[in-house]
Amino acid sequence: MLILGIDTSCDDTSVAVVEDGKKILSNVVSSQIKVHSPYGGIVPELASRKHIEMIWPVTERALNDAGVSLDDITVIAACHGPGLIGSLLVGLCFAKAVALCRDIPLVAVNHLEGHIFAANLQKNPPEPPFLALVVSGGHTSLIRVDGFKKYRELGRTRDDAAGEAYDKVAKLLGLSYPGGPVIDRLSEGTKDELGFPRPMLNEGFDMSFSGLKTAVMLEVKKLGKGKSLSEKDIKRVCASFQEAVVDVLVKKTERALKKEGLKTLVLSGGVAANRRLRERMTEMAKASDINLIIPPVSLCTDNAAMIAAAGLYYYKATIFASEDLTATACLPIGRS
Ligand code: KG4
Ligand code: ZN
Repeated sequence: MLILGIDTSCDDTSVAVVEDGKKILSNVVSSQIKVHSPYGGIVPELASRKHIEMIWPVTERALNDAGVSLDDITVIAACHGPGLIGSLLVGLCFAKAVALCRDIPLVAVNHLEGHIFAANLQKNPPEPPFLALVVSGGHTSLIRVDGFKKYRELGRTRDDAAGEAYDKVAKLLGLSYPGGPVIDRLSEGTKDELGFPRPMLNEGFDMSFSGLKTAVMLEVKKLGKGKSLSEKDIKRVCASFQEAVVDVLVKKTERALKKEGLKTLVLSGGVAANRRLRERMTEMAKASDINLIIPPVSLCTDNAAMIAAAGLYYYKATIFASEDLTATACLPIGRS
């Protein structure tokens, strides 16, 4: 069976064809970085306009790359939230229209579920129960997974997502968008010299990154004394900020694994591309005998193959989307 996955939850237009929810035949992602980089962050109105322009060409390419046509598609899996409402509506309405015209069943997938089930697209998929840390530009959530539709969000960010904090810190340092990869690169070989705060480190599983961003802003003012920072100072700020974020993510994850008695961890979302986070998580997993699963970067960042992978479970459970289904910007996991 062939699943056509569609994701337009944020700033990437993505369509994929996945066989049996596991084998990727195509996974096309059209990035909007060029559109948003002059603003140092995503402009929602521009994002939805670009999705409208790209959704059909990206779908055509995904079908061509897979060597199939719409007639071969068994089911369409579209993301209906959480995300930017205008962006979500483009992908979902497109999916509904195609499903209706071509008489193809439609399933609606939670974007976070997609990030979790991205781990099924590789050789050794995780066996529930496991813990998932989904950490991206829009989300930072620790989720206990006991099976399909059996999710419990143990903790989440109360303000900025970790990736959002990376992007905002990069902006205030005058670096390019998206900030995560740039800060990752500039941090290499530099130590945590500035000792930024680790917000909420010892309080439960919720997280907060907006105070850390303010601490960085104050430090930048202090170091620069009204002038722009030297290259050396930019690197010191990047490395110290990154270490604070990674510290919080690793320690909260480690505590959640222990408290829940879980031995498998899935790390997903755009920030999972971060080299320091991967390194520290790997060290922690080794020390605690945890089976750590990190999908390849192309499946950690937003993509439609992960939506198709999660869509398989809806199809098998015959949970189909109704014709009046709409997109939802704030859609906690487990309430799809
Ligand atoms: O999952 P994703 O593609 O889209 C969202 O759902 O947000 O994640 C994008 C986020 C951006 O905030 C970007 O700065 C961050 O992931 N990111 C990184 C790295 N690569 C991407 N953050 C830290 N280190 C990286 N290497
Ligand atoms: Zn995402």
